[in-house]
Amino acid sequence: MGHADDGRRDGGSKERYRIVGTLGTGGMAVVLDAIDTVCGGHVALKFTRTPEAGAFARALLEQEAEAMTRANDRRICHVYGVADCEGWPCLVMERLVGQTLQAKLASGPLDPSAVIAIATEIVSALAAVHRIGMVHQDVKPANVFITATSRVKLLDFGLATRRGAFPTRSGSGRKGGRPSVLGTTNYIAPERILRLPADPRSDLFSLGSVMYEMVAGASPFAAVTTAEALMNVLEKDPPALDVPRSAAGRALERLIRKLLAKDPDDRYQSAADVRKALSILRSSRPPAAARATVRRPLHIRGIRHESVDASCAILH
Ligand SMILES: Nc1ncnc2c1ncn2[C@@H]1O[C@H](COP(=O)(O)OP(=O)(O)OP(=O)(O)O)[C@@H](O)[C@H]1O
Ligand SMILES: [Mg+2]
Repeated sequence: MGHADDGRRDGGSKERYRIVGTLGTGGMAVVLDAIDTVCGGHVALKFTRTPEAGAFARALLEQEAEAMTRANDRRICHVYGVADCEGWPCLVMERLVGQTLQAKLASGPLDPSAVIAIATEIVSALAAVHRIGMVHQDVKPANVFITATSRVKLLDFGLATRRGAFPTRSGSGRKGGRPSVLGTTNYIAPERILRLPADPRSDLFSLGSVMYEMVAGASPFAAVTTAEALMNVLEKDPPALDVPRSAAGRALERLIRKLLAKDPDDRYQSAADVRKALSILRSSRPPAAARATVRRPLHIRGIRHESVDASCAILH
């Protein structure tokens, strides 16, 4: 089988994967439903939107596959590898049946027990990601899948990068130089807008934004324009949440506000700490230590707003 310069392979006599539909699209990729004619059954095939980028597109998918495989957690969508379909490189994954959290939230907010249960699964997946020295960098409702059997799966490692690296679209990160900003408005952590290196605590901020949205039915930083949303992430104290006025309800709100602290030092410091706090909430005993820590205006130690600039690459 030949290997063309543009990263496309000559198809060979018979395609292994037969495309039967579309599962979803995101900022940079399209995910198709296909039948694996060798093993039987469905798979999900993720193609970059610019497969003509050839070897580069293949390298991005290989990096994504590697991160998902190494993290190796049941709450992370299972990957079979990178293959070729109709000549183009694609990530081959288990085909999930159900809906994204984004689709689920379209029919309204969730009750606190569902929020705690889903957040526990997301943060457990993040713990596995952080354990291998990676940061996901794109935790948001469209990248969380709720299966028909109510399992939670973290998707989309297209932006995952090494902890401490300055992320690039290639996901591998680079040392030195000016970091670019990648993430999604409303979920990106303030320090990522300010172009600080990848930090697991940035994923915890994104989780806080997702949890807030699960409770409130709306993003804490929603705005008409991207610039306004980014300023909201940097400066805005999210409005009070409409949680039950019980001790447990107040504890849930404190936990979310602590995740949304502007300064990473004021957040939970690890996914494991968040999981512990959630398990205390789950057993209905409010955590004694959690405190609302959102401060205004933004003071990330030593960093000023002026470092935000127009070259940010933000995904919507
Ligand atoms: N394994 C899967 N099974 C079913 N549907 C999936 C699967 N993976 C992704 N999807 C659907 O496809 C959508 C887009 O996938 P994904 O988030 O990986 O792409 P993307 O956002 O374009 O990626 P990237 O940020 O890497 O460019 C998801 O929101 C989801 O609806
Ligand atoms: Mg996505």
